Amino acid sequence: EVEITEEDEQRILKVSKDPGIYEKMRGSIAPTIYGMEAEKDAMVLQLFGGVPKTMPDGTRIRGDIHMLLVGDPGTAKSQMLTYISKLAPRSIYASGKATSAAGLTAAAVRDEFGEGHWTLEAGALVLADMGIACIDEIDKMAEQDRSALHQAMEQQEISVAKAGINATLKSRCALLAAANPKLGRFDEYIPIHEQINMPPALLSRFDLIFSMIDRPNKQRDSDLAFHILQTHKAGEMHEHRLRSKDSPYTEEDEKKLMELVTPSFEPGFLRKYVAYAKRNIFPVLQDDALNRLQDYYVCLRSSSEEFIPFTPRQLEAFVRLAEASARVRLSDKVTIEDAERAINIIEKYLKRVGLDRETGRFDIDIITTGISRSQHDRMLTLLDIIRKLSGESPDGSASIEDILSEGEIQGIESGKIKEALERLKRNGQIYEPKHNHYKVTEEY
Ligand SMILES: Nc1ncnc2c1ncn2[C@@H]1O[C@H](COP(=O)(O)OP(=O)(O)OP(=O)(O)O)[C@@H](O)[C@H]1O
Ligand SMILES: [Mg+2]
Repeated sequence: EVEITEEDEQRILKVSKDPGIYEKMRGSIAPTIYGMEAEKDAMVLQLFGGVPKTMPDGTRIRGDIHMLLVGDPGTAKSQMLTYISKLAPRSIYASGKATSAAGLTAAAVRDEFGEGHWTLEAGALVLADMGIACIDEIDKMAEQDRSALHQAMEQQEISVAKAGINATLKSRCALLAAANPKLGRFDEYIPIHEQINMPPALLSRFDLIFSMIDRPNKQRDSDLAFHILQTHKAGEMHEHRLRSKDSPYTEEDEKKLMELVTPSFEPGFLRKYVAYAKRNIFPVLQDDALNRLQDYYVCLRSSSEEFIPFTPRQLEAFVRLAEASARVRLSDKVTIEDAERAINIIEKYLKRVGLDRETGRFDIDIITTGISRSQHDRMLTLLDIIRKLSGESPDGSASIEDILSEGEIQGIESGKIKEALERLKRNGQIYEPKHNHYKVTEEY
């Protein structure tokens, strides 16, 4: 438990009135890591969390914000997770490839040394109850964890039924996870669930998914290099001053360089601030904030009848983020500014991973089902074409040439046709009775 003295409380209350509080909070998250403003803003909100609620019918709605970082190697994912796990009260860092039997969730294990009784061993998500579970390389988790994770993320409980043990453990934690793309690098044009080894149903339980893409960019590279080199130089100077008797470097020199990587609030204070907010602040949605979220949701959903940009799940994510935003300034009112901040963050995330590249629209199906509406429609069209061509051909199958020309008549370019054929084949909706000839599988 984080202890908060009278004195701490005075400082917390004073700091909460600082108009620059949000920037300072961001500036307190892993300052040695350059950039990643959107991720850091989201992590600030994750630290504070939304308000957990129990409804009259007994259902519990989580307040914890789940977040996933997917990205190229060496983009500081592990660093960020380690930082947060040290910063947040009651948090732990674990790898998806955990070696213990309990893994991420929990397991019944036989006590080898004693009488051979079965006992319950808690995994990472149980140990992080009321904190943040930082799970690195979550794509590499064990099969048994994968199924338990659904329950852990939504109901925030983990049930174990094995060897006469029947137990439900609480895991009221926020999940901050990182994953690497299967193909090594992230590809914006491939649906996210095909790139990381996680099913769409699990992905859709994250409130936020950020892709971290490392592409050469002169300005950014130069700034990032400066930041990293400067950080190292500051560290070197510090060591030099510490270890050698007559160092030419002064405290001033060191301080100047260190400024870049000094958090706005020291971790000890931030931890107290967060603990204070989570204990004492239970903000309520104000009418204008509520209306803003409602309008935004309805407006985006009605922008098209075919596309599903959001599901009610995202609406809940908006609420949690807005509540967290109010908590940052210790306010018991969720205002329209908080609603805007939540919308802003979610739009940033959807722009990166939930955009249908062909139409430029948000399409949550890309995340929840792994396939966009336009791809879906194209696959249906192609099934029709193959069915028709097979009916007309003597050997009962459609040749690739005919499919391509018929597809192009219907306005689908050949690259897209081939991609859709691959997908249909993989789904088992069509098969290839002989090379480059396709047939629709019976049940479709
Ligand atoms: N934006 C950045 N600012 C400062 N340092 C960075 C940045 N990006 C990467 N680094 C540095 O690069 C190194 C690699 O980072 P890290 O191991 O966290 O990457 P990762 O994303 O976990 O990679 P992998 O996917 O291979 O596990 C770290 O030492 C980190 O400090
Ligand atoms: Mg890593």
